[in-house]
Amino acid sequence: MKIIIKKDYQELSKSAAILVKERIKKKPDLVLGLATGSTPLGLYQELIRLYEKGEIDFSQITTFNLDEYLGLEASSPNSYHFYMFHNFFNYINIKKENIFIPKGITEKPKEDCLRYEEKIKEKGGIDLQILGIGSNGHIGFNEPGSSFRSLIRVVSLNKKTIRDNARFFKNKKDVPKKAISMGIRTILSAKEIVLLASGEKKSEIIEKVINKKVTKKVPASCLKKHKNVTLIIDQKAASKII
Ligand code: GLP
Repeated sequence: MKIIIKKDYQELSKSAAILVKERIKKKPDLVLGLATGSTPLGLYQELIRLYEKGEIDFSQITTFNLDEYLGLEASSPNSYHFYMFHNFFNYINIKKENIFIPKGITEKPKEDCLRYEEKIKEKGGIDLQILGIGSNGHIGFNEPGSSFRSLIRVVSLNKKTIRDNARFFKNKKDVPKKAISMGIRTILSAKEIVLLASGEKKSEIIEKVINKKVTKKVPASCLKKHKNVTLIIDQKAASKII
């Protein structure tokens, strides 16, 4: 696991954007796995800036998002569909048909999940997966205890995640209790993985991921089993390891 420590959030975002830019330059039809949450916002802003400067062309890339809340319409401001379009896709030249996000409203979640997993394979697999990390170590919505063999599926969110994510909702009770999330195996199938973490509140979990053994209790620790993982973290998130 390669660890890059940046001065602050802005530097972290720039560094991640440069990495994405380089990968797209090498492979214009890159298959990119994307994350939500507050951490990748700076990366998306930076990528939009590079696009506006004419330094990146997204016209051939395909994206797969990690997860979506179950029960939220794509038009709901709290859905990850809404987040992705409003924070990234609306500002770049990606083709709509190349955007994949798990459906939040569905009558057949199992079939949708199978189809999503197949779609990833059909596109040749994910070349580069961007991840954030929950304060309990979750990646996507793979909560502590998730099987390392899990594929995309319906998951129940744990109390800590609901509490953490309540800041985006009017009331804590509005936070959905379930989501659809790529599994740990889906994530580990990506050819390259970059995990971003910023701020003091992530320092404890980052220390665990780096220093503790691989355990289902800390889902992100599974990344140690992968050959091509980079953690890009800022000094505050790294404060317990340096
Ligand atoms: C959510 C998402 C995760 C994300 C995590 C951390 O739970 N499902 O993909 O990594 O939040 O969010 P933040 O970056 O806001 O701390």
